[in-house]
Amino acid sequence: MKLSVFVEAGLLGLAAALREPKGHEYHRNPRDSRSPCPGLNALANHGYLPRSGLNIDLETLRYAVVAGFNLERTTQDGAFNLAIAFNLSTSGNSSTFHLEDLRLHDAIEFDGSLSRNDFYLGDNLHFNPAIWHTVATNLGLYKTGPSKEDKYVTVEVAAKAAAARVKAAMAANKHFNASESQMQGSPGTTALYLTTLWDDDAGAVPKSWIRALFEEERIPFREGYNPTTRKQKTAQDLGDMFARVTAVDTGAPKGKRELRWGSH
Ligand code: HEM
Ligand SMILES: *[C@@H]1O[C@H](CO)[C@@H](O)[C@H](O)[C@H]1NC(C)=O
Ligand SMILES: *[C@@H]1O[C@H](CO)[C@@H](O)[C@H](O)[C@H]1NC(C)=O
Ligand SMILES: *[C@@H]1O[C@H](CO)[C@@H](O)[C@H](O)[C@H]1NC(C)=O
Repeated sequence: MKLSVFVEAGLLGLAAALREPKGHEYHRNPRDSRSPCPGLNALANHGYLPRSGLNIDLETLRYAVVAGFNLERTTQDGAFNLAIAFNLSTSGNSSTFHLEDLRLHDAIEFDGSLSRNDFYLGDNLHFNPAIWHTVATNLGLYKTGPSKEDKYVTVEVAAKAAAARVKAAMAANKHFNASESQMQGSPGTTALYLTTLWDDDAGAVPKSWIRALFEEERIPFREGYNPTTRKQKTAQDLGDMFARVTAVDTGAPKGKRELRWGSH
């Protein structure tokens, strides 16, 4: 009997750990303002950012990146300030923006995204299942099993998948904007999701966590992600990851590579 009590307690403990924090359960409402960014959308879907997606100011963003992802609180200041500097806000207050405002093309939003279509080809705001399917296949997300390669995405695999997506987008879109900001944006956002979801013990990112973030814009609490017990990730960690991503030989021309704006 004693054993089964232990087993039950263990299972209860596990269930508690995998539960979403009270008040921060995952909900989506199609009427809410959302961005082309799965990271910000996930924070809003869990109520770390306002669930409405409206009137985001810098302090609100800083709170959210710590509470939802345990990123160092100022790591996203650069992206926030960039959004302000582009004058893309429609909130009526030049210190805030609505999430959907970030869709403005060639501001922060760029061509060759992992999960969105190019602006010229249609919808650059919403998750695009067909495009994501090609990326997810290259990431090996649908290949699951017991081995380590089956469970995790490495930096090398992620860098190659991002480069393949840019190559495909350039072939599909005769108006593809290969500006400097675009060409560093792709490895930048890859470094950002890798760092944000990094599993320090595995030295890689669980596939299930990547799927939750992109496919549902959900923080993967249910799959074991826990911002309160994760080691905080700093601007230095983001920079180091960017260097690792851009060091991978993807066969693409390298160009000038430097990290700006906290990875976007
Ligand atoms: C909180 C941590 C954040 C994470 C984990 C994150 C993650 C990501 C990822 C992975 C993408 C690429 C999506 C794709 O290629 O399909 C992306 C795109 C984007 N993010 Fe974020 N992001 C974060 C914060 C921010 C902030 C603070 C801003 C602006 C204030 C921002 C604005 C954008 C925009 C505009 C895009 C679209 C870029 C594109 O066209 O691909 N993000 N983000
Ligand atoms: C944004 O507005 C400010 C003040 O009106 C202006 O100086 C700046 O050039 C604008 N930035 C862009 C990217 O349009
Ligand atoms: C604009 O937003 C900032 C940041 O939230 C706030 O401090 C300020 O009071 C707002 N201004 C107005 C006129 O509402
Ligand atoms: C390409 O993107 C850059 C920077 O994002 C922008 O300044 C430029 O206007 C864009 N060019 C075209 C043709 O859209």
